[in-house]
Amino acid sequence: MTLEVPQVFNVHVFACYQQRPAGHPRGSCMTSGARPLWDYLQVKLEKLANPAIALTATGCLGFCRAGPLMVVYPQGIWYTPRTEADIDAIVDQHFVAGDPVERLIIVPQL
Ligand code: FES
Repeated sequence: MTLEVPQVFNVHVFACYQQRPAGHPRGSCMTSGARPLWDYLQVKLEKLANPAIALTATGCLGFCRAGPLMVVYPQGIWYTPRTEADIDAIVDQHFVAGDPVERLIIVPQL
C-alpha cells in the first residue's frame, strides 16, 4: 500500500553540520569543508525567499567520508558539493528549475 501525503515543501534540504575533532576516525562534514558551503547556501536561499524551499541543519547523516553531504527531499537525492559553483548549480538547476544536477549526485552505500 502506498500512502500519498501532501508535501509541505517542494524542496527540503538537510545539510550535515556535524563536527568531529581533527583526526577522528569517522571524519565529519565540517572537517571536510562544509561550513563555508552551507553558509553560502543559506545566504543564497535567503535571497531567493521562496517559502517552498527549506533548509534544515542536521547532525550526521551516516556517510561521513563522502562529505560535505546534503540530502534533498522529497526525491531523496544526495549531493556532495565542493564549491560555491556547485551550490549555485544545485540551487538554480535543481531547486528552482526542477532538474537535479547529475554530476554532483552520490548514492551512499549502506
Ligand atoms: S558527519 Fe556528515 S554525514 Fe556524518
